[in-house]
Amino acid sequence: MTTLEDLVNPGIRALTPYEPGKPIEELAREQGFAPEEICKLASNENPLGPSPLALEAIRQALPRVHLYPDGAGRLLREAIARHHDLSIENVVLGNGSNEIIELLFHVFVSPRAHEVLCSRHAFAVYRLMAQLFETPCRETPDPGFRHDLGAMRKAIGPNTRLIFLTSPNNPTGTRIPNGELAEFVRTIPRHVVLALDEAYVDFLDDPPPSVSWVREGKNIVLLRTFSKMHGLAGLRIGYGLAPAPIASWLQRARQPFNANLLAQAAAIAALEDREHTEATRRVVREGRLRLEESFGRLGLEYVPSAGNFVMVRVGDGEALFASLLRRGWIVRPLRSYGLPEWIRVSVGTPRQVTNFLAILPAALHDTRGRAARTAE
Ligand SMILES: Cc1ncc(COP(=O)(O)O)c(C=O)c1O
Repeated sequence: MTTLEDLVNPGIRALTPYEPGKPIEELAREQGFAPEEICKLASNENPLGPSPLALEAIRQALPRVHLYPDGAGRLLREAIARHHDLSIENVVLGNGSNEIIELLFHVFVSPRAHEVLCSRHAFAVYRLMAQLFETPCRETPDPGFRHDLGAMRKAIGPNTRLIFLTSPNNPTGTRIPNGELAEFVRTIPRHVVLALDEAYVDFLDDPPPSVSWVREGKNIVLLRTFSKMHGLAGLRIGYGLAPAPIASWLQRARQPFNANLLAQAAAIAALEDREHTEATRRVVREGRLRLEESFGRLGLEYVPSAGNFVMVRVGDGEALFASLLRRGWIVRPLRSYGLPEWIRVSVGTPRQVTNFLAILPAALHDTRGRAARTAE
């Protein structure tokens, strides 16, 4: 007899869904906290919140939400193009940069015919999308949690269509040195499209000249987002930058109104808000340093980070996650990345960092006590 499962596409059947950071509302429900008592350092959001200019733009746009947004997203694409000194034809909007990842598969990958490459411990959505598209995703080794571009170059085969490079990478926080990246871009074969995921590029002091590779017409798509530096994660708005011919194929594959009206208005304003960007950069730099120094003092191994989060080895990541939840703190355990001993902590406000570091020793002690009791 045919079951419902038989009707489901194999890519969906095999899929392990993405595990997002635990929502504040869920923890409030489970543990009886008021939402204000909970602190979430689990999804690399902006500790300072949205740009005030973006909030004002949303207020002004609110009376128009009965209208469809501009499907072409012209004003936002123009603003992004100006910001990067590119042309509007180079810009594709997405419902978060996650959607651009999906569009890349729609446009360039045929199920069961092609393969994609990414680095071990790279952002999980590439693998997930590959599963959906019934496409093998080969992972290259990441010694010291760094991309190995030599191994990546050697792994390229005739069926490789997409390569994902992530710099800085989530969850490891490591970046690709500019020289290595430039050399890799120079030598990508024409049958491969390089997706360079730059969700956290705004946190780098010396970002690579990646936009110039778009201008030069390389087979490249830069993935950018308003979710991190610009503090608009809840609005779901990101974009791809690519040479015009690539961008126009991506445009074809998207939903007609994939970037909503409030998101478009807010993103235009956020792009202009240098004060908010500078303040965020400062808070993240200082908070990251304090987290790293304190982890060091506690004798915890951590990976020096170039993003707005730090990955730290705590013994039993799930147990520490649970112990922190009981205290009203949400971090990200990394078992789904094959790193059960590690957690990832997003950089919060100075006060959040102080409070987190104050409760961490007790939470660690909890998990160690538990482990010892289990071993007895
Ligand atoms: C490396 C990386 N790329 C892409 C994304 C997707 O971001 P969004 O869809 O919010 O733009 C994230 C989100 O955490 C990320 O860490």
